[in-house]
Amino acid sequence: MSEILLGVGGGIAAYKSCDLLRRLQDLGHEVTVVPTPASLNFVGKATWEALSGKPVHTEVWEAVDRVNHVALGDRADYIIVSPATADLIARLSAGRADDLLSNSILASDAKKLIVPAMHPKMWFNAATQSNIRKLRELGFIVMEPDSGKLTGGDSGVGRLPESSAIIDKFNNEISVEQDLNGFKVLISTGGTREAIDDVRFIGNKSSGKQGLAFARIAKARGAEVVLISANVDTSREFGISIIKVENTEQLQSALQTEFPKCDVLIMAAAVSDAKPIPATGKVKKQSYSKLDLVPTPDLLADIAKQKNSQILVGFAAEESANLLQEGKRKLAAKSLDFIYANDIASGSIFGSDTTSGLIISAREDEIEEIHQISKESLATRLLNKVSERLNSPNV
Ligand code: CTP
Repeated sequence: MSEILLGVGGGIAAYKSCDLLRRLQDLGHEVTVVPTPASLNFVGKATWEALSGKPVHTEVWEAVDRVNHVALGDRADYIIVSPATADLIARLSAGRADDLLSNSILASDAKKLIVPAMHPKMWFNAATQSNIRKLRELGFIVMEPDSGKLTGGDSGVGRLPESSAIIDKFNNEISVEQDLNGFKVLISTGGTREAIDDVRFIGNKSSGKQGLAFARIAKARGAEVVLISANVDTSREFGISIIKVENTEQLQSALQTEFPKCDVLIMAAAVSDAKPIPATGKVKKQSYSKLDLVPTPDLLADIAKQKNSQILVGFAAEESANLLQEGKRKLAAKSLDFIYANDIASGSIFGSDTTSGLIISAREDEIEEIHQISKESLATRLLNKVSERLNSPNV
């Protein structure tokens, strides 16, 4: 399949990359391991050579005749660095080349996935956060570490993500075709907030994770991405245009401007169906017992009326029993090409990293059942259908 260079940094999580290596091989990839010299304190050369079946070097001064510092990066289709320590991240963000791994990365055009693991204090240190930002600006895909128990008894953000999550990220954002190159994808994400007064609002539980997953993956597949973000932290996103909105009215006006320019609209935002007439100042508690609401327009249904050749993807949040019926009803009522009917029965959809539901296509009533997959994988499956339609519009 592909040639992968697996870089291993000097952290205790290095042992977990033995499992990652195996899983990449199981998927059919050829993996060459390049550990940093420091990482050999945790997992020795012999282990990597035995597992990869290839010679393992750490310094540019070994096997000089093979010009490994250029050849390894040149040959790689993809580079994964797992674990990436604070020091390694600092070196990479500065463009240093002081061991074989950093040399190979500097000399490679391959897509690069960085999987950090370190103590929370090192992770949240402003220097590390600034280095991470720099790496993302440079085009590296950097995963967020997991939260949980760490070596030494502490707990917090800094654990290496599970191998399955790293593979998921790799499959969805790294090892992808540029099939959306030349297309403009407009995505809305998050949840609108409608002001009750100057300090209170009506909101919803949408975390924005699904829309962010669409944005990252569409970008990784070559699309020009415009993200309309309703109350979501977008500080970790790079390479996409972001329009920040708070309420339904602002979301509507952003859609009006951007929709005519896009090829695809993915309407993942949870939009308020009604809003109060906001009071000025702060309503005192004696008068705070009843709210009068006025309906908001259905933004998706309205924008669909201006559709030219755009592909429209909508969402529906439904109880399991209503999934199919309500999904189909909203698909038709809002003139959509695809709808994802999200099963909210388990109560874990909002803020969760996984999702279950039904993808319903308007053409031929095609239905695909989705059971507990990552929001990234759902984005990939839906974008596959969108891409098929974009690349062969008449089929
Ligand atoms: N939507 C919209 N404008 C609204 C409400 C919803 O554009 N005022 C969009 C959402 O972004 C989503 C789709 O319509 O893509 C379905 O949203 P959902 O809340 O499931 O459906 P509603 O039409 O609001 O119906 P109900 O709340 O009665 O289930």
